[in-house]
Amino acid sequence: MQVDIGNALSDVARPGVSEGALERLDERVARVHERIERGMADDEFGYAALNLPETTDATEIREAVEPLTDADHVLTVGIGGSALGAVTVSRALGLDGHAVLDNVDPAETRRVLDALPLADTAVHVVSKSGTTAETLANFLVVREAMTEAGVDWTERTVVTTGADGPLRAAAETEGLPALDVPEGVPGRFAALSTVGLVPAAILGGDVEGVLVGGRAARESLALSLFDSPAYAYGAVCYALENRGATTNAVMPYLESLEPFAEWFAQLWAESLGKDGLGQTPVRALGATDQHSQLQLYRAGRHDKLVTLVQSSERPDVPIPETDVAGLAYLGDGETTLGDLVDAEFAATEASLAAAGQPNVRLTVDPTPEGVGELLVAMEAACILVGELHGVETFTQPAVEWGKRAARGLLGGGEFEEADAVAEKRRLV
Ligand code: PA5
Repeated sequence: MQVDIGNALSDVARPGVSEGALERLDERVARVHERIERGMADDEFGYAALNLPETTDATEIREAVEPLTDADHVLTVGIGGSALGAVTVSRALGLDGHAVLDNVDPAETRRVLDALPLADTAVHVVSKSGTTAETLANFLVVREAMTEAGVDWTERTVVTTGADGPLRAAAETEGLPALDVPEGVPGRFAALSTVGLVPAAILGGDVEGVLVGGRAARESLALSLFDSPAYAYGAVCYALENRGATTNAVMPYLESLEPFAEWFAQLWAESLGKDGLGQTPVRALGATDQHSQLQLYRAGRHDKLVTLVQSSERPDVPIPETDVAGLAYLGDGETTLGDLVDAEFAATEASLAAAGQPNVRLTVDPTPEGVGELLVAMEAACILVGELHGVETFTQPAVEWGKRAARGLLGGGEFEEADAVAEKRRLV
């Protein structure tokens, strides 16, 4: 992965960061890098995520899913970190047939189940805690739908969960194959583990390549942001946030990376949104959002960083020749859709820079290795920003609050958060 921060520097952008400020920040980056290395060496909670490219056993995953590899479809039942990484990986690898049930909108659950050929579908139920209400409820609905369709769901289901909890117990009772969520890894940092790689493995994706790319990202972490693309990106995000860029709009120019923007949004929001800090992540897609959000990014407030993501190469589609007046510049027999999207990318980048709006360019390889490298680099960038801010990157107390409140309201246990909601309702 390459990172170009030129359009985030203060001689181009407002807010921007000067090279001198980055050099001063680099001393702190070096200390954070040493902290990260220690955390990795000790397999400390959270930091252990950066060890996943080494510790994830692709062979174990392949063996566990082998009985399911005849399926043309995979349904992930999970939410947040237990779904977004998996969807990001399979989509980025170009694998068709991966559906997800993360929300509990009844109409959507019904739509997804009606659309899937259930006899030809493998189900991956994922919950680290094993207690998440949305996931457990959808699991029960999926089981019933498969039974009604005459499918033995116990033959089509694999579970990934923590060491104990209701999901582990259900897997044991039903004799389901059960994989472990790795120790010490928060859900949103688990893409390069069983959590994120099982669907791709079932669909025949190159999960080994993803892990190789993750290792490359990890190895490229260095004591200086000037030697490490991941830290360069994280340091610029941190510096710009401090200078007023409190929004980070992530805009890949590849449909296959659209879920990546969603995964990034969770990573950034849930890890860094603490103590009144954290950039607000926004998802965008090039070139589509040039026709909507770009107006704001170019001419709106100077409170944003736009992260533009492009591919180092891609397959192409020639634009058919035409002699229709006005279309000749497209249909000249030489121009391709790839030329067009490249021109759109260049235009957006230049237009933001001309308006003094900070933007950073990430260039990724469209390979399994490139995908793994991108995900681990963004995780390292996020950990760097969290350390520089001094927040607890690996916890999510606000998310947990909502989970406990919902469970309590439904009678799933005694939780003070549920009492607080009930009290609020009484007052309204
Ligand atoms: O990143 C996180 O910790 C969260 O997004 C969780 O992944 C999400 O809440 C789902 O939790 P669980 O895997 O316990 O069902």
